[in-house]
Amino acid sequence: MIIAVDGPSASGKGTVAKIIAEYFQINYLDTGLLYRALAFKTIKNYKTASLKNALKVVNGLTEDDLSDPQLRLQKFGEEASKLAKEKDIRDALLTFQRNFPNQSNGAVLDGRDIGSIVFPQAQIKLFVTANLSIRAVRRQKDMKRMGQNISLKELEASLKARDQRDINRAIAPLVCLKDATIIDTSNIPFGSLKKEIIEIVEKKYKSLSLGSSE
Ligand code: DC
Repeated sequence: MIIAVDGPSASGKGTVAKIIAEYFQINYLDTGLLYRALAFKTIKNYKTASLKNALKVVNGLTEDDLSDPQLRLQKFGEEASKLAKEKDIRDALLTFQRNFPNQSNGAVLDGRDIGSIVFPQAQIKLFVTANLSIRAVRRQKDMKRMGQNISLKELEASLKARDQRDINRAIAPLVCLKDATIIDTSNIPFGSLKKEIIEIVEKKYKSLSLGSSE
């Protein structure tokens, strides 16, 4: 059972994926962390995250590289988004993502192209979104917790630029698929979100088990 959760930055897709992983006791991979870890490790080893440098790092990434809290910093999200446009980078990270569910009998992955490219055969696909100003407020809180004070104006501009890059790139762009269920988290409090997500996934799962095409 593969559950694909796609959506833009700070839309709440990580929260949604974690709710699913916890409730259904399946493994969770935040694929954005893979791209962030690539940017982080490349800068650490070679000072700049150029494509040439990143290609020297990409095949050596392991799950251990995904745990550093610094990966969440704004700077690595931006560098990750730039590297994510590159075909050779995406191809190299595909194997890591596709091998992830082999560790167990099910998994939930979140990212930009999980339902379209990484697991087009995913049984359940969700597209998580929220409006830009709410996403900026969420990101500001996250950054504050990490000791970074960034204005809402700067965050909105940065999220907008990242959306543009992720949506308009030629390879594996962020898309809302026809077979995905859209979840707009803009005005849903966490308590209700949990209930809503579980209901959606259980309903989908039941319809799959019954062989219906709901
Ligand atoms: O989800 P995030 O903000 O941590 O992701 C950081 C960047 O990585 C994002 O701007 C684009 C890229 N990314 C991607 O291209 N494909 C994915 N499946 C996940 C992330």
